[in-house]
Amino acid sequence: MKLEDVKKIAMIGAGDMGHGIAASCLLGGYTVVLRDIEQGFVDRGVEGIKKSIARFKEKGKITPEAHDDMLARLIPVVDLEEAVKDADFIIEAVPEKLELKKRVFAELDKFASKHAILASNTSNISITDIAKATGRPDKVIGYHFFNPAILMKLVEVTRGAQSSDESIQIGYELAKKIGKVPVIVEKDSPGFIYNRVNEPTLAFISKILEAGHPTPEEFDAAIKPFMPMALFELLDYVGIDIAYHGMEYFAEVLSPDYKPSDAMSEYIKSGNLGKKTGKGFYDWSQGRPAIDLSKATKEYDINHLIALQVNEATKLIEEGVCTDPREIDLAVANGSGSPFGPFALAKGIGYDVLNAKLEELYNKFKLEIFKPTKLMKEGKIEV
Ligand code: 3HC
Repeated sequence: MKLEDVKKIAMIGAGDMGHGIAASCLLGGYTVVLRDIEQGFVDRGVEGIKKSIARFKEKGKITPEAHDDMLARLIPVVDLEEAVKDADFIIEAVPEKLELKKRVFAELDKFASKHAILASNTSNISITDIAKATGRPDKVIGYHFFNPAILMKLVEVTRGAQSSDESIQIGYELAKKIGKVPVIVEKDSPGFIYNRVNEPTLAFISKILEAGHPTPEEFDAAIKPFMPMALFELLDYVGIDIAYHGMEYFAEVLSPDYKPSDAMSEYIKSGNLGKKTGKGFYDWSQGRPAIDLSKATKEYDINHLIALQVNEATKLIEEGVCTDPREIDLAVANGSGSPFGPFALAKGIGYDVLNAKLEELYNKFKLEIFKPTKLMKEGKIEV
C-alpha cells in the first residue's frame, strides 16, 4: 500500500484526543468516520470538532467552503464494523487500558480490510503488546498525538517489534500530509519520546504535593513565563487521571519512583480531575485559570524542570529508543508548542548548571530517576 491508497480514515474513540485527531484528518482532506460506543459520546465528539473548526473559520484560518466541506466528509457512527469495514487507515484512541486496547484491536482485525493499517494513539502502552491481539502485527503502529490534537504538531510514529517499514512509512507520510510533524520512535519503549522525557517532572510534582509546598499556583507562577502552559495547569488541561495512570504504568515498568504520592491520589479520589470536571489544581469553571505571577516560589525554577527533561532524554539515547538528539528535540518542542527541545536548551544553559539542579533534587527527594546519567555528566551532546 502507498499513501495515495489511503482514502478513508476511521477514528475509534471520540473523546478529547479522538475528536481532535479526527478534526486534523478532516483538515488534511480525508473522509473520516468517527466512532464511539454510545451515540452520546459520538455526538459530543462531533460537537468538539464543530467548535474547533468554527474557531478556525472565525479566525480566517479556513474558508467557509472548506469548513462546510470538512463537515460533509465527517461520518459519525456507533457500529464498529460499519466504521472500519472500508477504511484504509484506522486510529484508535480509547482509554489507556491494555486489556481494552487488545479487545478493540482484535475486533478491528476482524472487521477491517486486509490492507488496513491499525494505529494506536496510546501514550505509553507497548505497541508490540497491542499488536499481539491481531493477526497482522506488521500493520500495527504507534501513532501518538498531543492535546489539543487539532493544534499540536507532533505525532510519534512508533515501530512495534513487528511493524513493517511500509506501515511506518505510510503513517509518517500521512502525518505530514495532515500538517503534523512526525518523529519515528525506533524502539517500542514506555512513554515513547515526549512522555518519557516529561515523566520525571510528574514524579517531581507528585513530591511537591506530598511536601505541601510550594502550592501549585506558586510553582506554576515561577515557570509560566517560559512555557505555553505551566505544569500543574497542563496537568489539569490534559486530565490529572491521565497523568496519574501514566505514572502508575511507569512505576510498574520502569521504576517504583514513579508511584504517585498519596497527596496526588487524593485528587483522583475527589473526582477533581482538571478542566474536564471543572476543577483540579485550579478552578476551570470560568474558563482557563489566571495564574498570578507575583506568587512565584523562590524554591524552584524552570531549570529544575529542564534538568529533569534533559537527563531523561539522555536515557533515550543510551537505551537506543531514539539515537538522534535532534529528533528528540524536534519531538519535545512540537509536543509542547515550545521553540526549543531539551538538548538545545541544555546547550544554552550549560550542563554544569543543570547537573547542579539534578543533584539538589536528588538530595531532597532521594529518587533514583533524578540521578544524572553518564551522558548528562559528560554534557557533550551536540545539536
Ligand atoms: N480548537 C481550535 N482552536 C483552538 C483550540 C481548539 N481546541 N484551542 C485553542 N485554539 C486557538 C485559539 O482560538 C487561538 O487562536 P488565535 O491564535 O488565532 O487567536 C490559539 O489557539 C491560541 O489559543 P489561546 O490564546 O486560547 O491560548 P494559548 O496561546 O495558550 O494556546 C495552546 C493554547 C495551543 C493549547 C497552548 O497553550 C499550548 O501549546 N499548550 C501546551 C499544550 C501541550 O503541552 N500539550 C501536550 C500535552 S501532553 C499530551 O498530550 C500527551 C498525552 O499522552 C497525554
